[in-house]
Amino acid sequence: MEAKIKNIKDQLDIQLKKCKTVQELNEIKVRFFGKKSELSSLLGKIREISPEKRPIIGKLINDAKQKIGQAINHKKRELEDIAYQTSLEKELLDITMPANVPQIGARHPIYTVQEELEDIFSYLGFEVAEGPDIETEYYNFDALNTPKNHPSRSIRDTFYTKSGALLRTHTSPVQIRIMEKYQPPIKIVAIGRCYRNDKPDASHMPVFHQIEALVVDEGISFADLKGTMDYFVKQMFGVNIRSRFRPHFFPFTEPSAEMDILCVNCKGKGCRVCKGSGWLELGGAGMVDPSVLEEVGYDTEKFTGFAFGFGIDRITMLKYNIPYIRILFQNDLRFLKMHRA
Ligand code: DAH
Repeated sequence: MEAKIKNIKDQLDIQLKKCKTVQELNEIKVRFFGKKSELSSLLGKIREISPEKRPIIGKLINDAKQKIGQAINHKKRELEDIAYQTSLEKELLDITMPANVPQIGARHPIYTVQEELEDIFSYLGFEVAEGPDIETEYYNFDALNTPKNHPSRSIRDTFYTKSGALLRTHTSPVQIRIMEKYQPPIKIVAIGRCYRNDKPDASHMPVFHQIEALVVDEGISFADLKGTMDYFVKQMFGVNIRSRFRPHFFPFTEPSAEMDILCVNCKGKGCRVCKGSGWLELGGAGMVDPSVLEEVGYDTEKFTGFAFGFGIDRITMLKYNIPYIRILFQNDLRFLKMHRA
């Protein structure tokens, strides 16, 4: 009997040494302590032992039980310690490691200029409007009084989709969309991308940006157009920058004009930027042609309007000293950060 008890204890020592997880330990506990364990069967046999030996053997078995219990508990604590230690090591935070700093973008100069334009015109009471980049021929040309045979409609100038829609070639279709929806007084600016089948060069890209303005009310005259332009130019480029109008032609305005501003680089002396003329071409303007007002159902006896539209890529290039328009479309973060407003 004593030998059997010793054998159980030795077996336990061997098993405990091999045991590596709490689960294994639980299995060992069942094997040595459970109802079907050797120890239990020894206890069952205690009645077969002579009465005088019984207390001694009983004590031996109970001592063994206690020792086994202690050994198992001890092992349990040991395993828990190890588990805790490994979890600490896994979560170890090295605060001296270099951090993963996320790349932060930068605002595009076009949007800085766009906001500046919206601010200037909002101050004058203009509302900011929008129109779709993908337009129909009706809004881009027909409603703007553009003849069916006008060269700007050709596929050499305009991008058409298979379904016959087109990428707007200017922001002027927003004029029609707004007038269709609202009655005068109208006073809006719209900024957005425009598309033309131009070969890219230093100052042309197939995608570019324009701002469109439209004012329609009773008694609007060319003087309102000139006053608005002059205020805008001085706000945008400085009080000593003058503007001028040259007679021109657009299908949707009558009379029409082209607007120039004094060269912001040489202030009129003549330089590389203005090709010696002292002036920079800004865009087109005019009094809204009555046929356009009629198209949207306005009473042309009562209402008159002015409109203008110009590119904002060139303005941005002048303001930020950008030599090629392409740079504006490359989204090179180094360039964007350099021109951070
Ligand atoms: N849409 C014209 C263009 O892209 C510019 C323009 C001219 C806009 C006269 C106007 C305007 O609003 O009145 O060339």
